[in-house]
This record gives sequence, structure tokens and C-alpha cells, in this order.
Amino acid sequence: ALMDKGNYRHFMAKEIHEQPEVLGHTLSRYIDLGNSRVKVPGAEAVDFSKLNRILISACGTAYLAGLVAKYWFEKYARLPVDIDIASEFRYRETPVAKGEFALFISQSGETADTLASLRYCKENGATIGAVVNVPESTIARESDVVFQTIAGPEIGVASTKAFTCQLAVLAALALHAGRQRGTVSEAQEKDLVAALGSIPGLAVQALKCETSIEALALPLSRVSNALYLGRGTNFPLALEGALKLKELSYIHAEGYAAGELKHGPIALIDENMPVFVIAPHDSIYEKTVSNMQEVAARGGRIVLITDQKGADASGNAAQNTVILPDVPEIAAPIIYALPVQMIAYHTAVFMGTDVDQPRNLAKSVTVE
Ligand code: G6P
Repeated sequence: ALMDKGNYRHFMAKEIHEQPEVLGHTLSRYIDLGNSRVKVPGAEAVDFSKLNRILISACGTAYLAGLVAKYWFEKYARLPVDIDIASEFRYRETPVAKGEFALFISQSGETADTLASLRYCKENGATIGAVVNVPESTIARESDVVFQTIAGPEIGVASTKAFTCQLAVLAALALHAGRQRGTVSEAQEKDLVAALGSIPGLAVQALKCETSIEALALPLSRVSNALYLGRGTNFPLALEGALKLKELSYIHAEGYAAGELKHGPIALIDENMPVFVIAPHDSIYEKTVSNMQEVAARGGRIVLITDQKGADASGNAAQNTVILPDVPEIAAPIIYALPVQMIAYHTAVFMGTDVDQPRNLAKSVTVE
């Protein structure tokens, strides 16, 4: 029954819709809602108060989860993060010292480049942590401490529920590190844990924007390029949006930090270029509105993914707006991942591509 699509047309649709449930399972392992505390089994293996940085390495969507985590570790734990794609990391000869902490993120736990990066750090005396979905995998076995995602088997080649569960684990780990380093107070921890606890319910609400996303996907299936923009933790989500769209629908897409628009991608903007802007109404929302105005002034078609406040403050720059529930800042990357996944999914369905097995891609890349 585990390998069953249920009532869904594709595994990917099933896996997208499973997210409220698997996020609930994963969060219940890493937060204690009753006591408003994070609890990270195995985290005793690392003394975050003694670290000067964390190293993170991964591939594909797992790498993008790591990129979100960089913002969290730096903001909440005041701990610098050096993150790199595993295929680069493994050959870069980066200095890694004894006693450092290196974290690897992988759904399968078998990705060749991620494993090679892990072994490099281990040889150099680092403590190895892994966020993995498959507990009996090679990466899990070779790590000092495993932070398991409880996403269940993921069949669709393009990662969805494993990604959001990775984010949930990484958020809890960043808060744990912040608590240990004295940068997250008990009162802040209480609020942040409540915010994480609200994620499964918010995910249910976010899935309700599927009908409006399906309506957007039909015209999208006729374009040949798309751009995704975001700032802060929404920047990695812009990269994830572009990655998912190319993987599933073969439409060329790029993700950019919204502030980088002027340094290149603005040259591409015309009526034929859909621009997805991922922007909850947060502390840097106004900056993103200026970027949207720059796109709108050049005739670009904006699809804004935001909340009600963001929609009200967008000044009519967007042609289409997808409205999500209001979310606490730490929950935003997890909740905003859902519309991003659904955009790619429905576009691919309209185009008739093989959603669960896109051409040339593999679920797990175990050779270089
Ligand atoms: C492949 C998959 C991606 C995945 C990446 C990393 O490219 O198609 O969905 O994000 O590998 O896989 P891992 O198992 O290490 O998370």
C-alpha cells in the first residue's frame, strides 16, 4: 500500500498532499509543543556553543533546503554557515578542521557526491551530522548523528515532501543551536516552537490554493522561459521553483535573488516572460515590491505568491496573485514550497510530460 498512488494521478500529487501529515510526524519528533521547547534527539553529539561555523553540503533540492538553513543558523544561532553543492565541495580542497561540524542533507542517503563530501569531512576530523529520509542508507550509517525526516517513501523523482520535512528538521536544529549558544531566549523559543507547530495546519490551508494554481498553469505550459524571484529565505525557494519547473515541464527557468534583478535578468523581461515572485508580507516585502514595479514597467507578467497583506500592498504590479494564509516568518519557506511545487506539477500535467519520471533524471544519483 506504501507504493500506491491512492486516488492521485501521480505519486508527486500524492506526495504534495501528504505534506501536512508528514510534516506533523517530523515536527513531533523535533519539537515538544506541550513544553514549547525544541528537542532534537542526538543533538548532544554536537556542542554548538563551541563552534565557529557549520559546513553544509548536499545536491539538488536537498542543497536548497541547506541554503534556507543557512539563513536560519545565522539569524537564530548567530552561527556562520559555509554551504556548497556537494560536487563542488568534494573537489574544492576546502580546509576542514578537527572538531568542526559538517551537515549533509539527502533524501535517499545514497547520493554519490554528498557521500564523498561526507567522507572528506570525516577524514579531516569533523563531526558528521546528516538529515536523511532513509535511516538505513549509507550516509546515515557513516554519520555520527542522524536527524531523520519522517517523510515516508518518496517515489516521484522530483523531491517534494522530503524537502519540506528537511526544512522542518533544519529549523528545529537551528533553534536548538540558538538555545545552546544563548542567542534564542526562552520566550523566543516558545514563540518559534508555536510557529513550527502551526505548520501542518497552515500546509492544509496552503494546499487549498491548488485550483487557482491550476488556472495559472495552462497559459504557463505555452511559454519557453520563466523567472522566479525571492529575497531572504524566499531566494532558495525561487531557485527551487525554477528547478522544479525545468525538471518537470522542461521549460527553461531561472531563480534569482530579487535584488539581483538589475544585474542581469531584467534584460530578459518582456511580455513573454512570466515572473514568479515569492514574497510573504515580511520585513523586506517593500524591497520586493520595487523589484515587481521594475518588472511590470517592462511588460513582464508577474505571478505574485504572497499573503493577503502582501496582495493589498502590491500596488497592482501583479497580473495574478496566489494568496496564502498569513504565516510566521520561520514557517514561510515550508508553506511557500507548496504552491511552488504545485505550479511545476500542474504545468507538467498540462504539457503531458512524465511527471513522476522526467526524462534523463534519476531519483537517486549514486554515480558521479
Ligand atoms: C536527484 C533528485 C532530486 C534530489 C537530488 C538529491 O537529482 O532528482 O530530487 O533533490 O537527487 O538527492 P538526495 O537523495 O541526496 O536528496
